[in-house]
Amino acid sequence: MKNLHVLLLALLVGSVFSQTASNTCIFFNVYSAALDPTYGPSTGGNAITFDDPNIPGGSATYNFVYGFQAATIAGGTIVISGTLVPTNGNANTLDVRMTFRATTGTPKRELQDAAYVPTGTIDPSTWTYYAIDPANSYMIGHGDLEGYTVDLTAFDGMPLQVGTGANGKNLNFGASGWFSFAFRQGNVVVYTSDKVVDINVDIACNDCDSHQYRATDANADTSIGGVKGGQALFITSNDLTPFGGFDRWSFVDNSGLVTIEANNNLVLQGNFAPTGGDQSVRMSCYINFYWIASSELKKELPADAYLPNGKIDPNLWKLYRVNTGSYCTYNGNQINITGNAMDMPLQLGNGGNGKNANFGMGVWMTYANGGDSVIDINVDLTCIIPDTPTPTPTESCTWTCVPNAPTATPTVTPTATPTATPVAGNSAGSIEISKILVAGLSLLALVFVR
Ligand SMILES: *[C@@H]1O[C@H](CO)[C@@H](O)[C@H](O)[C@H]1NC(C)=O
Repeated sequence: MKNLHVLLLALLVGSVFSQTASNTCIFFNVYSAALDPTYGPSTGGNAITFDDPNIPGGSATYNFVYGFQAATIAGGTIVISGTLVPTNGNANTLDVRMTFRATTGTPKRELQDAAYVPTGTIDPSTWTYYAIDPANSYMIGHGDLEGYTVDLTAFDGMPLQVGTGANGKNLNFGASGWFSFAFRQGNVVVYTSDKVVDINVDIACNDCDSHQYRATDANADTSIGGVKGGQALFITSNDLTPFGGFDRWSFVDNSGLVTIEANNNLVLQGNFAPTGGDQSVRMSCYINFYWIASSELKKELPADAYLPNGKIDPNLWKLYRVNTGSYCTYNGNQINITGNAMDMPLQLGNGGNGKNANFGMGVWMTYANGGDSVIDINVDLTCIIPDTPTPTPTESCTWTCVPNAPTATPTVTPTATPTATPVAGNSAGSIEISKILVAGLSLLALVFVR
């Protein structure tokens, strides 16, 4: 059983890191790498460990809020981001965002010798390597660490190693790396040492299989301070004539669609009618975004909606910028989208729409000849699960049966297929296990086909 487990994970490695054109998994969860009782080393088990007890903040070991961070892997780049909490329970949390670019490297073996081939199953020759990108890698402190930023750079040229057993703590698919650090306040470095900060994590696919989401108007959740919701698109402008005078627009005909493309671009498209207005009026939009590693974030809800008092973790959001060729069309006129307004990136994730804590996205955009005008998008997103084939009617009916419509032949059709109804929403935890199984099984099938 253990070998099968490892085989599936090994297949996952090949899948994730050998396919670039048709990525099977785009988004991942990252967990602290627990110590394997048999094959693990004697120390570790936390996500982040500073090998220096004297660092500011009073804690050298950290794990993630919610037990995981978010990783996005695409085009030779990995971004790991999230909120780190000290294991000693103090309030000095760290926002972390670490960006890595594909490189070469040699394995660092931390497991017991018996874990590695030929005795064991872990084969370091399958691992891949990623160099830290210091310009897009940092930790930002809170609590007693408010005002501190931790810069991260390569330690002795060592890259992040990624693969099965590469976390150095257990046999799971994961990553580990050592980095140099410097605590600064403003531009002044206030603490550094020749010690390292160590990351040891499990990495598991957490994806919407179809890479397509139904986009719907984001309603304001007033219980967390959301305001001005109930539309998908809001235009702030002194001159609304290009939009027929309408400033609020809602999706019609269930047409709101977000697609994450193989190159990790995000496309939003759909048809709109004025919110609560004339439903024969139409606008349509096609807006293309490209993924970015880091940015300032825009928190539209009151501060208490976010960590530590609220449950929304903006560090888990995936970030994008408007691409060329984006436009809306109203009354035959093309309104070209020109960029992100006020430097706000598109924020994809729970609470990213700025109106509620649902999985969704929000972005502010400028358009040609619009001056200071802003197009604001606020939508909820639900993973689209492809239709399962209609089951062939059988003579016996095990579920509640009703006659067909009056014109039909006198047979009976099942009212429900005997499969579970997919739950709407994108609760990371609930999707993840089945996703891993699906990934493993489909890869297994791939191997047999070959
Ligand atoms: C919008 O962009 C297209 C090219 O993508 C261009 O032909 C057109 O003139 C632009 N329209 C405006 C109003 O800027």
